[in-house]
Amino acid sequence: MSAPPRQKRLTPSDIAALKNQRPIVSLTAYTTPMARLMDAHCDLLLVGDSLGMVLYGLDTTVGVTLEMMIAHGQAVLRGVTRACVIVDMPFGSYQESREQAFRNAARIMKETGCDGVKLEGGTEMADTVAFLVERGIPVLGHVGLMPQQVNTSGGYRSKGHDDAEADKVRRDASAIAQAGAFALVIEGTVEPLAREISQRLACPTIGIGASPACDGQILVSDDMLGLFNDFKPRFVKHYAELANVISKAIETYASEVKARQFPGPEHTFKPRGRS
Ligand code: KIV
Repeated sequence: MSAPPRQKRLTPSDIAALKNQRPIVSLTAYTTPMARLMDAHCDLLLVGDSLGMVLYGLDTTVGVTLEMMIAHGQAVLRGVTRACVIVDMPFGSYQESREQAFRNAARIMKETGCDGVKLEGGTEMADTVAFLVERGIPVLGHVGLMPQQVNTSGGYRSKGHDDAEADKVRRDASAIAQAGAFALVIEGTVEPLAREISQRLACPTIGIGASPACDGQILVSDDMLGLFNDFKPRFVKHYAELANVISKAIETYASEVKARQFPGPEHTFKPRGRS
C-alpha cells in the first residue's frame, strides 16, 4: 500500500529556504474562516497563544491551556491548503523537562495535523529544542520579548537597549538556532540587534516589533485589522479599522430592529405558492 501524498502545504524546510530569497509573510490565525482568508497570502500561519488575550479576554498568555491551543489549531488546519501552520506551546506545557515538551508537542502535532510548534526561550530551552528536533518535531523559536515570561521579566518592554540585554538576546538567538530551530521569531527588539542577529544566523528570523531587518514579518491579525481601538503599540500598523466597521454595523442593525425596518420582505419566508 502506498502512502497518501503529503498535502501541498509549505513545510518548515520551505520556510527556512526563503532566507535570502524574499521576506516571509506571516500572521496569527485562530479560526477556520480567518485561516481561509489568509491562506493564499501568507507563508506561515501561527496559532499563537496570543489567542488568550485576543479571543478569551485574558490579561496575559499565562492562562492559555494545551486544550485551547489544540482546539484552535484544529480549526485553523481546517481552513488551510497552502500555508505552513505552526502551533504555539502554551505556558507550562514545555518548561518542566524536555520529555514533557516532547509529549505535549507530539500531542499538538497528532491532534491538529500542524507542521511544527513554537516555544519561547533562549539558552535555557536550547537542550529542549534539540531534543524535539532530533525526534521529528520542527520548532520555531521565539526570543527577545517573551510574553510568557511577563511575570518575571518586568512587563512588555522592548529588548536590547543596553549591552547586557543585547548580549542576552544575542546568546538566546544563537543557542536556539544552533539547537536546530527552522526559524526564529524575534519580538520587541531594537533594530541594530535584530539586524545583526538576522545577518549572522543561517535560519530566517521573523520579526514582530523587531524592524524591517528581519527575514520576515508577523503580526497578531486582530491588531493589524484594527479590531482593538484601545490597543495600538508602535510596531502595529492598522491595515483596516474593523472595530469601527463592526460597531457601525451593529449600531445600524440595532436601530433597524427597533424601527421594525429589519427584517424586510426580502428576508421573510412566505408560504409556498403565494407571491
Ligand atoms: O502568540 C503570538 O501571537 C505570538 C506572536 C506575537 C509571534 O507569539
